[in-house]
Amino acid sequence: MTEAAPQFTPRVFSGIQPSGGLTLGNYLGALKRFADAQDQGMETIYCMVDMHAITVWQDPDALRRQTRELAAGFIASGVDPEKSILYNQSQVGEHAQLGWIFNCVARMGWMQRMTQWKDKAGKNSQNASLGLFAYPALMAADILLYHATHVPVGEDQKQHVELTRDIAIKFNHDYGTEFFPLPEPVIEGAATRVMSLRDGTKKMSKSDPSDMSRINLTDDADAIANKIRKARTDPEALPSETEGLKERAEARNLVNIYAALNDQTVEQVLADVGGKQFSEFKPMLADLAVAKLSPISTEMARLMEAPEEIDSILTRGADRAREIAQPVLKRTLEIVGMVHG
Ligand code: AMP
Ligand code: TRP
Repeated sequence: MTEAAPQFTPRVFSGIQPSGGLTLGNYLGALKRFADAQDQGMETIYCMVDMHAITVWQDPDALRRQTRELAAGFIASGVDPEKSILYNQSQVGEHAQLGWIFNCVARMGWMQRMTQWKDKAGKNSQNASLGLFAYPALMAADILLYHATHVPVGEDQKQHVELTRDIAIKFNHDYGTEFFPLPEPVIEGAATRVMSLRDGTKKMSKSDPSDMSRINLTDDADAIANKIRKARTDPEALPSETEGLKERAEARNLVNIYAALNDQTVEQVLADVGGKQFSEFKPMLADLAVAKLSPISTEMARLMEAPEEIDSILTRGADRAREIAQPVLKRTLEIVGMVHG
């Protein structure tokens, strides 16, 4: 029996792990884009994926604090809990239920090819949690539980969204249905990969041992300005065309950051700053970064003083999420042949 192809309403879903510490990379690669997507006429659903976070050990008190801090980061970055559905994953049990079904759809070979699994498990894969291996199937469930069509993520998550499509295709094929949409990764903008301030070939990451390599969303104005002043560069002046940034990873990164913070293209930025030395460009970038980021850290600090306000936003978000998720899960169970009332 084949169902007629349903029309899928465009819907945005994305998630971030509450694994502690938000950087400028998370802001430009994810949070800012999540906020921008709210005004593009699509429903937006954003999830703090605490069940993903425990695929590696998390201290319970730290996990609670990190979840609230991430929620504060979302809100301070402009994600409006009225416009978007904002919640933490474990409050909507349907994620785990659909995740199990997708564990039975995904193949071992698909999971073994995941670059993030290979990087994270490394040589010690026998000792990694089973959850870490299965995690992309849970991510597919996060997305498909809402029939989401657009998934804004950074470069590093593209492979997992492609796997989500493979899971949807196999499910639809095996059960002779067109129930699940094939979601698209949305990877665009000047800063889908913000690089380390110390090494332009490495991603800016909360796990880098050097704090000077990153800007944290909790950094104050002095720390931000200092890190930009000390960022690695080369001795050349800035070019006027993007071509001139090709072999200059550090210069390219700083220009990308400027463009993304200022909602400009790299071309527009270079048209203004081409010919300038870093001694002139860095203070411009520092001023811009402080102007854009310090209101975020101030608002995060305020929200962290009001955990009950955060918790009630997440509970309300979870209730709204469940309204969409429940009928999708129910229909999935029917398709699979599970008897229920
Ligand atoms: P993570 O902090 O690695 O769990 O990533 C959370 C989200 O932020 C994902 O959508 C990532 O793709 C994005 N992200 C993390 N680091 C960066 C970065 N350096 N540049 C751009 N996006 C990033
Ligand atoms: N795997 C993502 C990360 O580590 C987080 C994530 C979980 C996610 N579920 C998702 C992202 C669904 C987008 C859509 O960053």
